[in-house]
Amino acid sequence: MLRRESPCKINLLLNILGRRPDGFHELETLFHHVPLTDELRFARAEAEVVLTCNDPALPVDGTNLVHRAATRFLAAAGLEGAGVRLHLEKRLPLAAGLGGGSANAAHTLLGLNELFGHPLSAEVLDTLAAGLGSDVNFFLQDRPALATGRGEQVISLEPFAALKGTGILLVHPGFGVATPWAFAELKKYPAALAGRPGRAAELAELLRQGDLTAAGNALYNSLEAPVLDKYPVLRLYQEFFRRHGAWGSLMSGSGSTTFALFATPDAAQAAVEPFQREFGPAGWLRTTALTS
Ligand code: C5P
Repeated sequence: MLRRESPCKINLLLNILGRRPDGFHELETLFHHVPLTDELRFARAEAEVVLTCNDPALPVDGTNLVHRAATRFLAAAGLEGAGVRLHLEKRLPLAAGLGGGSANAAHTLLGLNELFGHPLSAEVLDTLAAGLGSDVNFFLQDRPALATGRGEQVISLEPFAALKGTGILLVHPGFGVATPWAFAELKKYPAALAGRPGRAAELAELLRQGDLTAAGNALYNSLEAPVLDKYPVLRLYQEFFRRHGAWGSLMSGSGSTTFALFATPDAAQAAVEPFQREFGPAGWLRTTALTS
């Protein structure tokens, strides 16, 4: 039995540059890991992929990204006769903009590669990851990263010293946002659909310099245009966190999770009680410290 923690991510910046002929959107994004995790367990078994999950809301058949990742791994490794039992202990919210499902897929590839004695190279894992989803490649590595293309072309960055040990608060409002809907809605927001390239690298440079005030102002997510229009409460969350000590606050990915960045984990924790007094205790809320 092999275990892996499967973390999540935020997009410190998600800048859409245009719609591509294949229906995906060209973008640049600055990813950062958040050390809140699901757990995956793996064991060799008879000739089948069998997935179990603690969350009944998640299908465990071939539509589940973990199942799909396992099937593709076995095929690519020439192990079609082999089987595997997988268990996903889901703790992160679904359809949340945190990349939880993408991380599960990436860590399934990494975990199975370990379980079977590393039959696949990093390059092959990267190709499999890109076929599973746009955010999966980021989770094959453990650094902050700048990503381009549809998100699958990942350049690892040195960890930002200015962020290490700082506080983050994440709040999921209790409703999700369907990623295809958010992207499709962009056609109604021409400015958000045609971002100015270079913003991700600019934000990375501000973070590298440790200028968190400027970085806070440079956080940007094109998908806020449609999503905050539909769910204005998410805009109120951000304003609230900035009034309560956050140096930056943004929606992650296609939402619906909002994150807020604080100087310390204690400062993030101090915002929880006033937030719940203002907006109620519903939904999912966590605070933690950023690592790398
Ligand atoms: O790649 P992934 O499965 O995460 O994408 C989910 C959906 O989000 C896609 O089917 C597409 O509608 C949209 N998408 C997009 N452009 C991207 C990434 C995702 O249009 N770069």
